[in-house]
This record gives sequence, C-alpha cells and structure tokens, in this order.
Amino acid sequence: MRVEAKICAMIGDNPLVPKLISWDDETCCLEIEYLENGNLKEYVRQNNDNITLERRIQWSIQAAEAVGILHKHSVIHCDLSPRNFLLDSELNVRIADFGGASLCGSEPSAIPVTRFRPPRYDFDATPVFQDDLFSLGSLIYFIMTRFYPYEDLPSDKVESHFEVNEFPEISSTTGGSIIRKCWEQEATSAQSISASLAAIKTETPTGTVATDTS
Ligand SMILES: Nc1ncnc2c1ncn2[C@@H]1O[C@H](COP(=O)(O)OP(=O)(O)O)[C@@H](O)[C@H]1O
Ligand SMILES: [Mg+2]
Repeated sequence: MRVEAKICAMIGDNPLVPKLISWDDETCCLEIEYLENGNLKEYVRQNNDNITLERRIQWSIQAAEAVGILHKHSVIHCDLSPRNFLLDSELNVRIADFGGASLCGSEPSAIPVTRFRPPRYDFDATPVFQDDLFSLGSLIYFIMTRFYPYEDLPSDKVESHFEVNEFPEISSTTGGSIIRKCWEQEATSAQSISASLAAIKTETPTGTVATDTS
C-alpha cells in the first residue's frame, strides 16, 4: 500500500491514473477516486457487442500511454491485466493497482498472470520495462477480441506455447502487428506502441465493430 501511495503521489494529477484522495501513513489507508464503470475485463465481457472499433483503439492508446507514464517515473507495474485498468464515467481508461509494482528497481510483490507474463519469466530477477510491454500486447489483444490469449487452454499449455514463441492468431485482428511486436519483445517503449496505435486510428473509419477472431 505504501508503494501504491508513493507512486500515486509521484505521478500526481493525470487523466490516465485514478486521483489520490487521501493517504494515512499511520493506518496505511489509501483512498482513491471511485471509477463508476469498473474494470476493463468486466466491462468488455458485458458490453462487447456495443463497443466500436474506434473505442477499442482509443482504449489501447490510453492503456499504452498510461504504461508510458509509469515507465517515465521508473515504475514497472508488474501486474498488467484487464482487471487492473479501470474506466471512468466517460469510459476513459485509467491504470490502477500499483501495489505490486517495482519502483526504481525495487523488488516487486506482484508478477503478471499467466497469459500476460513473458515466456521464461524469471521470478527472482529484477523486472524490466519489456515485461510490462509483453503484458500490454496481451491487453491490447483482449481489448480487440474480448478474449484472454489462448483463453480455452489451461495455463500450463499456454506457457508451453509462449515458451516456443507461439502466440494466438492475430493476422485479422486490428493492431495485430503491434500486439505481435509486444509478444516477441521487440517493442521499444510504451510510447512507440501508443504512436503505432494512433497511426491505426487515423486510418480507421468511425463506428466500425472490431473483427471477431473467435
Ligand atoms: N477506484 C476504483 N473505482 C472502481 N472500482 C475499483 C477501484 N479500484 C478498484 N476497483 C475494483 O476492485 C478490483 C480490485 O482492485 P485492485 O486495486 O486491482 O486490487 P487487487 O490488489 O485486489 O487486485 C478492480 O479490478 C476493480 O474492479
Ligand atoms: Mg488488481
């Protein structure tokens, strides 16, 4: 909780991060603003048919920018997944749950969940920015398709695929080449991912529904 409060305070007021309302050092009570549309996982699962492609691209850009802000402050989130991105009243994405993060190389208390965790992840090593970028690839995949990577496979099978650099089919998914770069750990920064997504946005007609790759 201390780490979370410290990170919130460091970043300050930013539209991509929930506002810090109060922090009590004695009781370790952290109060952040309530975001009424809940987390991205539940929202996408419940409203998938009504989410336009334009919005999905916007969310992906906001998520990448939010990760970029953390990285700029030397914070590695270490647990990026759709449950840890929240939606505000205007359906803008905000990154949350910094409790397990690594701050300036400190030991994290979280690790990414299976489908968001890079292959051959060393649980004892100091996390690197690339770890978050891998997770971001899985997050964008989820935003575009509503599925977790290899959702129908058990975790150990997913790990076996990832280990030999096999990832879900994304050739017909919007942003597929960006997702692939994240998964293959060739993305250079969260900012470059957000710039590539912004380039897709300008090419995409409004109101289109994302391709269902199921
Ligand atoms: N500020 C908030 N506004 C609305 N819902 C929230 C907020 N913070 C957390 N939640 C809800 O609670 C869940 C768990 O919160 P989180 O901070 O991720 O804690 P945990 O460490 O338990 O994962 C989120 O996925 C989200 O559904
Ligand atoms: Mg969480």
